[in-house]
Amino acid sequence: MRDVMLIIHFIGLAMGLGSSLAFMFLGIASSRMEENEARKFTLNTFALSKMGHIGLALLVISGLYLITPYWQILTSLPLLIAKLTLVLILGMLIGIISSTAKKAIKGSTDTHLKKIETFGKLAVITTLIIVVLAVYIFH
Ligand code: HEM
Repeated sequence: MRDVMLIIHFIGLAMGLGSSLAFMFLGIASSRMEENEARKFTLNTFALSKMGHIGLALLVISGLYLITPYWQILTSLPLLIAKLTLVLILGMLIGIISSTAKKAIKGSTDTHLKKIETFGKLAVITTLIIVVLAVYIFH
């Protein structure tokens, strides 16, 4: 069962990190477009965020199973506590990005898209730190 959950954990990671990185590359592509076209293009890329949400959900569900043997020794694993704290921060960043995306579709699009760009970069950095921490903790 542990192997199945670890596989699900890695699929979640591929979907979560994959969508964050995809947003970054789509952002670079849209920066080379004419303003109106870029705005329309960026709003259409929000469909990708569903993949990110499913990925994070798979990571949390499989992670809560995988962590079972570690609960009793959690206080002696500061890096694992750091990883879980960063997972909470990642969840908050993704929540902020989703609610700002909804506002961007309704109006003041450029202002909200600027905010999403910043939070998107923070989400990529946070995800990469979690991956590095996870490998250090479990290897
Ligand atoms: C509630 C959230 C999470 C929990 C409780 C959790 C827990 C765990 C546990 C216990 C393992 C070790 C499995 C084992 O080999 O026994 C693991 C592995 C891993 N986790 Fe998570 N995780 C969570 C979220 C995440 C997130 C959000 C990411 C990435 C963004 C992530 C990335 C990884 C990676 C890369 C490994 C493999 C480490 C390795 O074997 O080298 N995890 N996770």
